[in-house]
Amino acid sequence: MEWKHLLFETADDGIATITFNRPKALNALNAELLGELSSLLDIIAQDEAIRVLILTGAGEKAFVAGADINELAKCNALQGKCFANRGQSAISKLQALNIPVIAAVNGYALGGGSEIALACDFIYASETAMFGLPEITLGIIPGFGGTQRLPRLVGINIAKEMILTGKMISAAEAREIGMVNKVVAPADLMGEVKKTARSIAQKGKVALRAAKQVINAGIEVDLAAGCRMEIDAFALCMASPDAKEGTTAFLEKRKAVFKAGLME
Ligand code: CAA
Repeated sequence: MEWKHLLFETADDGIATITFNRPKALNALNAELLGELSSLLDIIAQDEAIRVLILTGAGEKAFVAGADINELAKCNALQGKCFANRGQSAISKLQALNIPVIAAVNGYALGGGSEIALACDFIYASETAMFGLPEITLGIIPGFGGTQRLPRLVGINIAKEMILTGKMISAAEAREIGMVNKVVAPADLMGEVKKTARSIAQKGKVALRAAKQVINAGIEVDLAAGCRMEIDAFALCMASPDAKEGTTAFLEKRKAVFKAGLME
């Protein structure tokens, strides 16, 4: 399938990459791009061969410089609501994907760009990347989940400072506040992300899915409820062929080889 604003690649090792591809507009998110992202995520969710997804931006300057301000400038309240709904629906699908998703932030990740990265499982960034939620400088607030996901990740006080000032922070600062896991030279970014993606892709699919689901769901509930969820997910893992293979391989002193799909 052809996409107008996205590039989509899949490789034999089960690693797929979506590249936001509007470099002349610093990969800004227009309504059409968000629709494509949503449709592509539906396809990826059904594809058993994909084990890890990477998101990145085309060109050297930007991951995604936010929602398309040309479109935002024309929105009334109802259109604004539709736009925010469209963005949040795509971004919620991203967070709910059963496979791990890594953001490879190669430049500006502003507004909706930071919000997409925040919905990924974790972020690696190039030294040149800049993060921020500058919506306040446009007279609006983040609309794609930034007021909710950022405080959950970095704490309320840091999130308030970023959102209320609209200031950009460097990749190094983003690493310091716990928003980014790793910062590398621009030329090394995709190599480092793929190395981690390949390491994850070799793990059992049932356990990867269970770990992601329990962490995401558990963070929203109290500790006791989260721990009960973990017991159920742990039991489900124990019933999987992956658990048999993983524990047997350890005892036989060999490397575990997990099946590629859930349906085999
Ligand atoms: N929407 C539309 N076009 C954008 C854009 C955006 N978010 N960001 C950059 N562009 C366009 C510019 O208009 C420019 O286009 P032209 O060449 O046609 O003039 C092109 O991309 C290159 O940008 P600049 O010339 O501005 O590049 P720069 O290096 O001087 O500055 C920047 C880079 C600091 C990222 C600056 O472009 C910028 O501040 N962009 C806007 C960032 C922003 O405010 N994002 C939040 C959007 S609102 C949002 O995301 C709401 C939400 O949560 C849903």
